[in-house]
Amino acid sequence: MILKKVTTINFRNLVKQDINLNKNTNIFIGDNAQGKTNILESIYFLALTKSYRTNDANLIRKDETFTKVKGEVRDNGIFKSLSVEIKDSIKKAKINNNDVNKISDYITNLNVILVSPEDINILQGTPADRRNFLNIELSQLSKNYIKKYNEFNKILKIRNNYLKMLYNSSNPDRRYLDSLTENLIEREIDIYQERKRFIDLINSNVSKIYEDIMRIKNFRIEYETNVDFDNFETEHLKERLKKKYNASLNKEIENGMTLYGPHRDELRFLFNDDDIKIYGSQGQQKVAIIALKLSEIKIFKDLTGSNPIILLDDIFSDLDLKTRNKLIDFIPDDIQVIITSNDTKGINRKFLDTAKIFKVVKGNIVEKVGNNNAK
Ligand SMILES: Nc1ncnc2c1ncn2[C@@H]1O[C@H](COP(=O)(O)OP(=O)(O)OP(=O)(O)O)[C@@H](O)[C@H]1O
Ligand SMILES: [Mg+2]
Repeated sequence: MILKKVTTINFRNLVKQDINLNKNTNIFIGDNAQGKTNILESIYFLALTKSYRTNDANLIRKDETFTKVKGEVRDNGIFKSLSVEIKDSIKKAKINNNDVNKISDYITNLNVILVSPEDINILQGTPADRRNFLNIELSQLSKNYIKKYNEFNKILKIRNNYLKMLYNSSNPDRRYLDSLTENLIEREIDIYQERKRFIDLINSNVSKIYEDIMRIKNFRIEYETNVDFDNFETEHLKERLKKKYNASLNKEIENGMTLYGPHRDELRFLFNDDDIKIYGSQGQQKVAIIALKLSEIKIFKDLTGSNPIILLDDIFSDLDLKTRNKLIDFIPDDIQVIITSNDTKGINRKFLDTAKIFKVVKGNIVEKVGNNNAK
């Protein structure tokens, strides 16, 4: 898919802005704190209806009352106009000017893969940061995932409250708990299976990318669930989960919460058998994340039938020239890429030749003249 045009209104420090994008590479250059990342963030917000670095309220330009981002997307010959708006703490997403009620109907329309400095949290942050990574990517790839995940969270809350209540109850109604557990397990099965499939797909091509760039073999992600499974077949998952909840009933009541399930999943990033988080240099960690994101391009294409849009926020700083150029080689030619950088100096010719270059100054964007190749 291609994002042909983005319009930002009162988004962060960006004044009202129409940005006509090139179908290949787009580069936003400028000094620090001018609004380059805000542009990528506005596109991410248009795609996912939320930011990856702050809450909704901070997205509204200071002293204004609302923000809106609009975009024109072309996907397999079909044009769609998308918009997301926040006003009076209410968020509205629209497709072709029609309100969308279910978020799952919206966020599969514009698929983005963002590579940003915040990504280091996938390695260095908490297990919740790693699950958040899975949730964001899978929400873009699977309507079923968002649906089941939302239902799972609702049931989990009710079950946790009920477990708390049981702690003080002399005559607990086990039947109600059993039905909650059964409903929970049903959603958990889908979540486990979708996560496992996605991680397997990443593992099928990430190590080649990492090895080509860093000359280190066997980069892979290990999926760790806190219930032991021999495989991810539906019946097997169901049986193991049932057993686990049965055996842990007293412990769960004592703790007043559901202790087992995909809300406790963890990911490990390994090269050979070493944890990259512990053994990797800064560069090795940074490239591991970039390789991970690049490995998703093929997965998105295979599963959705369209190329995702790649957003690269300042990824070239602190990487040596050789590594940079190798990274760029992994981005297919027919894909739309939007890059931010302080200047064009460190950017590879292959990129510059077909790129449209914009300069960002205090929230204003101007197309740079003198770049004749841009279309
Ligand atoms: N809600 C808001 N209203 C107005 N300005 C905002 C708002 N949120 C952030 N800003 C401003 O946006 C600017 C930061 O923009 P951004 O993060 O896009 O910078 P950048 O060009 O990517 O800089 P760097 O090169 O340092 O990463 C800051 O000056 C910040 O004060
Ligand atoms: Mg920035």
